[in-house]
Amino acid sequence: MTAHLHPMLNVAVKAARAAGALINRASLDVEALRVGTKQANDFVTEVDHAAEAAIIDTLLGAYPDHGIWAEESGRREGKGRGKGHVWIIDPLDGTTNFIHGFPVYCVSIALMVDGRLEQAVVYDPTRNDLFTASKGRGAYLNDRRIRVAKRTRLSDCLLSTGFPFRPGDAYDTYLKMLGEILPRVAGVRRPGSAALDLAYVAAGFADGFFELGLSPWDVAAGALLVTEAGGLVGNFTGEPDFLETRECMAGNPRIYGQLVGLLSKYSRCAHHDDRLAPPAASTPPQPPAAGDAPW
Ligand code: IPD
Ligand code: CA
Ligand code: CA
Repeated sequence: MTAHLHPMLNVAVKAARAAGALINRASLDVEALRVGTKQANDFVTEVDHAAEAAIIDTLLGAYPDHGIWAEESGRREGKGRGKGHVWIIDPLDGTTNFIHGFPVYCVSIALMVDGRLEQAVVYDPTRNDLFTASKGRGAYLNDRRIRVAKRTRLSDCLLSTGFPFRPGDAYDTYLKMLGEILPRVAGVRRPGSAALDLAYVAAGFADGFFELGLSPWDVAAGALLVTEAGGLVGNFTGEPDFLETRECMAGNPRIYGQLVGLLSKYSRCAHHDDRLAPPAASTPPQPPAAGDAPW
């Protein structure tokens, strides 16, 4: 597959591997890491910064006019012919795992062209797993084409999610959501890297994913992997605007639809009336808890 990579995807892969090499080297001595906090429980290390710098260097080395939207260093506009091109970068997704030596984290790079996701790389340096996708050309894990899982009954499904962890996160709402999901599925996992969670949905390792409070760099690349693998990604009401609404859900079309049925009433994207309407199923209505801050 490597020989046929879109040239921009090829550069993104180089960038992701360079960042992965830095991350792997640093993982040999996590005790020595300098760790800062952006807010309580939201960590950043010198490795996040070094990996991001290496990625941007590689991307702009090849495409100096392109725009950048990176977690640690922010946004810079593209110019000239590159104006419509924006690279969305999470240099280390799963920093909390990384600083503990818990080996679940990745590099995530997506290219958006005129508002449309076109290229995606999610690279797990601990396993040397390279997930790639180009719009219209399918999704791959290393050289193997991947597809979302085919399960259609929620009760057979393994889902992944992300727990709330920052002060002000919607803890009460989240626990209610989990209360709806847990009795209906085969299992739920909280691996700790949203980009990798989406890549695993694309590969069929998990049947679905849902999380609140995510940023564009957490989900951009993983989302293209899922859609190119035959799945759906959107917010909790089934709308496609997951990138900046801070709620993301994914799965094969049948599972995604069932998750919307269960979780749309918790969505802050839903109309007020929908949020308070009783659900069609036999479960009692559970609107978002009054004390929860918006995610
Ligand atoms: C985090 C991971 C985690 C998710 C958090 C993200 P970071 O990204 O994706 O799984 O639950 O919301 O912030 O901070 O490690 O890049
Ligand atoms: Ca992240
Ligand atoms: Ca990060």
